[in-house]
Amino acid sequence: MLDRMMNAVHRWLCSSRMWANAVEKPLTDWLAGAGIGDDVVEIGPGYGATTRVLADHCERLTAVEVDPVLAVRLENTYGDRIEVIRASGADVPLDSAAYSGVVCFTMLHHVSPVAAQDALFAEARRLLRPGGVFAGVDSLPSLGFRLLHIGDTMVPVSPATLPARLSAAGFSDVRVEATRSQVRFHARRL
Ligand SMILES: C[S@@+](CC[C@H](N)C(=O)[O-])C[C@H]1O[C@@H](n2cnc3c(N)ncnc32)[C@H](O)[C@@H]1O
Repeated sequence: MLDRMMNAVHRWLCSSRMWANAVEKPLTDWLAGAGIGDDVVEIGPGYGATTRVLADHCERLTAVEVDPVLAVRLENTYGDRIEVIRASGADVPLDSAAYSGVVCFTMLHHVSPVAAQDALFAEARRLLRPGGVFAGVDSLPSLGFRLLHIGDTMVPVSPATLPARLSAAGFSDVRVEATRSQVRFHARRL
């Protein structure tokens, strides 16, 4: 299953300097207004393009990566600055109600089936303190996106159903915005 999660081209892209440069400025700008606080969990850090930016922004960062090879790689690269945990975002061995923010970037479409995404949402809520923020970004399908995912897991998140799914997971103040290529969400645990 892990081998199918990202194909070779996808792995090359996610580990590239081009991808790291592409996410740096938008993520830095987004963090200025996201309100994710000082103690944050990132689910699905991959090769660390988003993790690198988060580590500069957050006082404490915990990265939860399901792929054992990537988890070791993250530990080797960022282990002196962040905690790395090898686990699924749907079943995280961390305390409940302990974190100010949970974030995930360009990873939800790798979680299959939709019920597993919903389990991840419920787990994000469990990890958050009251008032904590669950937020992130995911890609929406296009021809290029579909080609990149040949042989990969690809379960896009529908912007139409996401608000109800986040509410069902127990979140309030749910905001979902979609562009042609991305869906962004921001929700709060009361
Ligand atoms: C496309 S990469 C995105 C990485 C990074 N957020 C970025 O934007 O560069 C998606 C990552 O999510 C991880 N992933 C997939 N399902 C996961 C799950 N259930 N829990 C934690 N990580 C998961 C994959 O192993 C992969 O490393």
